[in-house]
Amino acid sequence: MKKLLTTILSLGVAASAALAADSITAVKVSDVNDASAWAKAKYSSVTLYPQSAIHMNDKNANAANEGNKAKKADVAALYDGKNIALMVKWADSTKNVQGAHSTDTYSDGFALQFAGMSKKAGALPYIGMGSDGRPVVVHLQKATSSVYEPNGNKDVSTQINRQQTGVFGQELKDYDAKVASLAKTDYERVFVGEGFRSLTEIKDGSAQSNASMTHANNTWTATLVRPLSDSYMKSTGTVPVAIAVWDGSKLGRNGLKNLSSWVSVNLDGMKPDAKIVAETTEESKGNAAKGKEAVGANGCVGCHQIEATDAPNLMGPSLTNVGGYSTAAYLRESILKPSAVIVPGYNRNAHSNTPWYNIEKGKRVSAMTDFSFLDKQTVEDIVAYLKTIKAEVE
Ligand code: HEC
Repeated sequence: MKKLLTTILSLGVAASAALAADSITAVKVSDVNDASAWAKAKYSSVTLYPQSAIHMNDKNANAANEGNKAKKADVAALYDGKNIALMVKWADSTKNVQGAHSTDTYSDGFALQFAGMSKKAGALPYIGMGSDGRPVVVHLQKATSSVYEPNGNKDVSTQINRQQTGVFGQELKDYDAKVASLAKTDYERVFVGEGFRSLTEIKDGSAQSNASMTHANNTWTATLVRPLSDSYMKSTGTVPVAIAVWDGSKLGRNGLKNLSSWVSVNLDGMKPDAKIVAETTEESKGNAAKGKEAVGANGCVGCHQIEATDAPNLMGPSLTNVGGYSTAAYLRESILKPSAVIVPGYNRNAHSNTPWYNIEKGKRVSAMTDFSFLDKQTVEDIVAYLKTIKAEVE
């Protein structure tokens, strides 16, 4: 009896350890806005892969991000009757904040993406910006400083020196009030998107949220609080979330970031949503070695860069990290129905005769060959191989 119990216990430990990477437990608390509630949080490690599908036009940014490795983030979640709160911590030794005036500086930042209300049954939305009929809700926070930079030189001390100028009393108070009113103290945005170029900021106040980020000990700690359900999303016992972080010191912006795959956040004490859990944790049953052969035999590398050492020929998106931020279901769909999701981006650096999609009867049609003629096993083998294509952790 005792022995059996030990076996069960150790099985339990093994199972929860295996789950740690692709699911997060949201702990139930009475109020997620009470900072002390975080003491109860359980952290899971989530890997964020360099988004490599699109090549930037900015040569410096491309050079700064060449050979980028994946990053680990520690992620925890809390929920109460109304809201969900997420905390994300990741290492970044340089603090880059949004400049008030300079347009050539890039800031650190983070985004949390949720699956929006979908008219279509089926897979989760495309990880970057949603897809037709499968919207996403994106909460973005950029690092800002509360410093007023009238001349953009960050040398605020030369503009007013409390010791050496004759400014004091009411004058000084007025100056401080002006600084506070002009300072860029927050840069939080909420977007909805349903595919390429559809990301639209919600400005009418109908999206309630509060995001913040603080930098200490070479680490960013970011939090977001938003309703579990609102007019943009409805939560079940499992909330699918994707995490993105930007590194300003590497000129990161827009698509140039580190991105996780969809991760399940299970609300502790509630029934998990089996469908979402299955999709976010699915391991392909195919044979990756055979998949690699099939990729060669079917000419995928004629259009895609697969290994970092392959020449980026840009006939299609680079797949060098596709296994890191894509679910097996998404990869399967990409092969069988290339037009179901059109990857945001186009063939910037190659010939204009080879766009990534064409418009036919008002609809975007992928330039990728339709591989639905492949037999089921070959597709699974390719999916298993694609899942292995990702950078190692730095
Ligand atoms: C004729 C060129 C071409 C060939 C051959 C081709 N693809 Fe593609 N592929 C594209 C283009 C263009 C896109 C982007 C448009 C879209 O999303 O369909 C794409 C998109 C993809 C995506 C989605 C990438 C992302 O970042 O989300 C995957 C995965 C993919 N292809 C896998 C394959 C595999 C596997 C093969 C071989 C079996 C293959 N492709 C063969 C052109 C091609």
